[in-house]
Amino acid sequence: MDYSQTVPGVRVAAKKPVSRIAGFFAANGSIGAICESSRFLAKRMAKAIEGIDQPILELGAGYGSVTAALPESTISIEREAERFTYLRHTFPKRNIIDTCAIAFLDELTQPTVVVSSIPNVNNPEFALLRDSVARAYKAGTVTTLITYTYFPRNPFAGIFPKSEVVGFELLNVPPAFVWRYSC
Ligand SMILES: C[S@@+](CC[C@H](N)C(=O)[O-])C[C@H]1O[C@@H](n2cnc3c(N)ncnc32)[C@H](O)[C@@H]1O
Repeated sequence: MDYSQTVPGVRVAAKKPVSRIAGFFAANGSIGAICESSRFLAKRMAKAIEGIDQPILELGAGYGSVTAALPESTISIEREAERFTYLRHTFPKRNIIDTCAIAFLDELTQPTVVVSSIPNVNNPEFALLRDSVARAYKAGTVTTLITYTYFPRNPFAGIFPKSEVVGFELLNVPPAFVWRYSC
């Protein structure tokens, strides 16, 4: 399904090579993480959705560490311009959309699996994201959600019938808990 058709104002950026190094420290200061997820954490996130036959939506793709571990059919959302341009260049065949994930969740029209790297702490918009996930769960358009935290604190408690820690990845800076929410 082409979700880009359902979101007004989505623009298709030209493919432009960007320097991943330029602005690295400034960028990581603003993503709510010390650095990008390791490939080990990314693999754990991908494993957590194995066998689910629904469209996959990635939120907060950043510089693509989790994107790379997800199936080609995944739709990835990243609203920050430089990271979006980097993603388009690095994954030219993927469906990558530069929009706000919070609004996008309200546009879903079919049951979808969501893999989110949007920070759950130190994120002033987290309450909005949580509300949006809750609405989408109630609407039946988000059936499963995978995310990670650096502390054993359940960020989406009380929304889905089932919430569980499905992994703890030591090979990440810092080590991270992987959460799965489902019906
Ligand atoms: C911690 S980074 C995660 C990057 C990468 N996926 C990883 O796991 O390392 C979070 C990303 O979410 C993006 N982001 C935060 N809030 C967003 C929102 N409401 N809509 C779209 N992207 C968002 C940020 O721009 C940032 O690139």
